[in-house]
Amino acid sequence: MKMTLRDLDVAGKRVFVRVDFNVPLDDEGRITDDTRIRAALPTIRYLLDKGAKVILASHLGRPKGTVVPELRMDPVAQRLSDLLGKEVLKANDCIGPEVNEAAARLEPGEVLLLENLRFHPEEKKNDPEFAHELAQLADLYVNDAFGTAHRAHASTVGVPRLLPAAAGFLLEREIKVLGEALQNPKRPFVVILGGKKVADKIGVIRNMLTKVDSLLIGGGMAYTFLKAQGYEVGDSIVDSEHLDFAVEMLHLAKEREVRVLLPVDVVVASEFSAEAERKEVPVDAIPEGWQGLDIGSRTRELFSQAVQEAGLVIWNGPVGVFELEPFAAGSRAVACALADSKAESIIGGGDTAAAIAAFGLTERMTHVSTGGGASLEFLEGKELPGIAALSEKN
Ligand code: 3PG
Repeated sequence: MKMTLRDLDVAGKRVFVRVDFNVPLDDEGRITDDTRIRAALPTIRYLLDKGAKVILASHLGRPKGTVVPELRMDPVAQRLSDLLGKEVLKANDCIGPEVNEAAARLEPGEVLLLENLRFHPEEKKNDPEFAHELAQLADLYVNDAFGTAHRAHASTVGVPRLLPAAAGFLLEREIKVLGEALQNPKRPFVVILGGKKVADKIGVIRNMLTKVDSLLIGGGMAYTFLKAQGYEVGDSIVDSEHLDFAVEMLHLAKEREVRVLLPVDVVVASEFSAEAERKEVPVDAIPEGWQGLDIGSRTRELFSQAVQEAGLVIWNGPVGVFELEPFAAGSRAVACALADSKAESIIGGGDTAAAIAAFGLTERMTHVSTGGGASLEFLEGKELPGIAALSEKN
């Protein structure tokens, strides 16, 4: 058992909290979705209420080890301050003499947000000296960055080895919900996989075939499975390197008596664009030169029915190009079916969470993960380094 926030005596202590404030920004640098900031509030508020001195650290985007002004944490500090209703001090770096001073000056109940960790190449390399510089800012470590728990970086695995290290409330909840779902799933257990690439989902498919009752496959990756079954898929996206894998998985599913639902009809378009000519066709009639961009109406019904009959549904990857309205119907239908069903509904982060949010259905799901890549690796059955690095409870 890993230590959690409640196991730490935080009063008057400097607590280094690794959060995942990697939020989307628009061209003007404004935050377009603050879900991840909100998700860390319970941990931050708890620490403040207990009289801790809170030092927050996160990455933002992928600055590749140099200072990228557009990826400074200032808008995040402002938003956090608005949400907390109190001042958030902001450092201009995450290590160095000025940061040391700012951390030393902190009073109980104050918050200091460090600058983007990835402005230093040492963060991603898990450089020991850099980890030491971060760790000496604080007495205790809390990881509340589930979205980054699959990365073995200085702030996620280096620092927790140097300080007593506990899981924050968000991390704890993500591990609990996802862990219990996999260990003791309500049945029928249905997993819906979508998104573009089969390659991204190989581990998940393998692991899920040992656990689920039904596997529903939509999105771009479905065309690799259709092609593997001998269908002509026109210009639809196909991952040629994984055709054999698709055949192997379909065979394995049969052996394990897992029901696999692939699209029976699709919405095809003359090109990848919202304005393109489009039509609905059965999967054995995809015209040459056209590409499938969404599941069709019969498939929507089949998927919705499977969802309505389920005890637990885990969904990772949209079943169509939901960002373009003419191809959003499939993902919307699945999301609505989930919202209306009695099934426990767990949504992998990233694109799927964005789709659910776009349909205004976030509140109707049992759990929407804040981790895209992290939730995927969790579903693959991997131990996430950021979790493994936390201290064991005595
Ligand atoms: C995410 O958005 O998935 C996390 O913040 C991790 O970001 P990364 O993929 O750049 O490591």
